Amino acid sequence: MLHKQPLAPTILVTGSNGQVGFELRRSLATLGHVIALDRGVCDLGEPDAVRALVRRIRPAVIVNAAAYTAVDKAESEAELAFAINGVAPGVLAEEARSLGSLLVHYSTDYVFSGTGDKPYEETDDVGPLSVYGKSKLAGELAVAGAGAPAIVLRTSWLAGAHGENFVRTMLQRGRERDTLRVVNDQFGAPTTASLVADVTARIIDRAWLHGNRAAFPSGIYHLAAAGETSWHGYGTEVLRYAAGKGVVLKVDPDGIEAIPATALPRAAPRPANSRLNTRKLRETFDIHLPEWRSGVHYLIDQILS
Ligand SMILES: NC(=O)c1ccc[n+]([C@@H]2O[C@H](COP(=O)([O-])OP(=O)(O)OC[C@H]3O[C@@H](n4cnc5c(N)ncnc54)[C@H](OP(=O)(O)O)[C@@H]3O)[C@@H](O)[C@H]2O)c1
Repeated sequence: MLHKQPLAPTILVTGSNGQVGFELRRSLATLGHVIALDRGVCDLGEPDAVRALVRRIRPAVIVNAAAYTAVDKAESEAELAFAINGVAPGVLAEEARSLGSLLVHYSTDYVFSGTGDKPYEETDDVGPLSVYGKSKLAGELAVAGAGAPAIVLRTSWLAGAHGENFVRTMLQRGRERDTLRVVNDQFGAPTTASLVADVTARIIDRAWLHGNRAAFPSGIYHLAAAGETSWHGYGTEVLRYAAGKGVVLKVDPDGIEAIPATALPRAAPRPANSRLNTRKLRETFDIHLPEWRSGVHYLIDQILS
């Protein structure tokens, strides 16, 4: 006898070739029919084409993992950064509203100025230091303004198996160089793309597909792994763990030179305090966020395998 499966919801993912987009293809697969589109098929710089695409696909959920993420380059490409990060999320949110769909969108700790040492709450004043941060803030406002059911996950210090990031850079430089200098006066929680994707799946599953849609808790939520460190502490942990796994390093993981951010001039300033208070997310969706080291260890295992 033929058993028919109930019609699966369609979940549209943009930016499918990015760190988070790549992991979403895995984490959303058991929830429904995932249509994962990269920039070549769905270019957020072309809002009319994006609208037409969404209207054709009619997804129950849109997950926007596409973004202009070249933080330093954004200082000289403000128009493009604002088009992709500021305008396009609003277009997706408007389409979600008219379809009665959910939008999940990602933002960043860079919307904050980074003063003090208290983990930021969702209601704290924003004050982005960079064009990238300003463009991401514009995206948050555009999503909120569209009035669709929407979750904005502000995350920090992302690294995934698919893409270039701090973990890969440390592993490469640790093999090639006998001295390394890493910033020790900026603090946050290294967060893996797979954690972001898994949390996204959980929210969609519990609160949208199988929850009370009328009471869906739209809004901004902070999402980061538990604990905190500096970039220097992060780099030391990466190389210690890799050495323990047999990676031959030129540099001594415990001999990485600690430097202030001012010793490493970059086009875009970064916040010194990237700590995010995640209580709202944990309590609203009953989610446990693991300590940052466990995610980073797993990621290194993936990269080395
Ligand atoms: N990375 C971090 O440390 C960090 C921290 C906090 C928050 N976030 C936020 O988290 C989200 C995911 O970040 P991520 O690290 O996964 O970023 P990512 O690896 O840089 O991926 C972004 C993806 O967006 C795509 N993209 C760029 N311009 C596009 C356009 N015009 N149309 C369609 N797609 C376009 C890129 O395409 P190509 O592959 O063709 O370049 C890339 O695949 C973003 O919203 C980001 O702002 C990131």
